[in-house]
Amino acid sequence: MKRAVTPGTFDPITYGHLDVITRAAQLMDEVVVAVAASPGKNPLFSLEERTELAREATAHLPNVRVEPFDGLLVDFAKAQGAHALVKGLRAVTDFEYEFQMAALNYELSRDLETVFIMSPPQYMYLSSSIVRELASLGSPVDRFVPEHVAVALARKFVD
Ligand code: COA
Repeated sequence: MKRAVTPGTFDPITYGHLDVITRAAQLMDEVVVAVAASPGKNPLFSLEERTELAREATAHLPNVRVEPFDGLLVDFAKAQGAHALVKGLRAVTDFEYEFQMAALNYELSRDLETVFIMSPPQYMYLSSSIVRELASLGSPVDRFVPEHVAVALARKFVD
């Protein structure tokens, strides 16, 4: 069984993330989307909210499940019985940071391979913070996130 983990903060999940998850699900038998607590990032959505939004966004993918996690990614991957981390690469600017994380994770766990999937051009500029900023300014975000995420964002900025 080829099981992979696709980690992130998913604050909130975007079509860019979904593209990576969908393509990972085509390559692997099972994909676990790992939603990191990431307290240092001060997320807009709680861990429970981010997990629920990601679950709804991936409900149509039968070999994908979504789990929240706290602590080290390599420990989570090991506990899940995963042998690969799948991450999206949007542009050269992502590379150095991803290279460092992949090298560190390899150092922490030799059994875990990091695999990168290139983002298609239409998602290269996309990030959760851009989506949060657009929503906070009242701009429509339905081109960038699924409908239930757009609704959740609108609620955050109205409340
Ligand atoms: N499409 C669209 N956006 C993408 C994307 C894609 N394919 N891939 C990444 N992004 C964006 C995210 O939306 C996010 O945007 P923002 O910062 O503007 O909001 C940004 O890229 C960073 O993504 P994030 O989800 O925060 O992931 P990360 O690459 O910073 O790593 C973890 C997050 C959870 C993988 C990492 O912090 C981790 O492993 N944490 C656990 C603790 C640990 O093990 N630490 C040691 C790791 S070496």
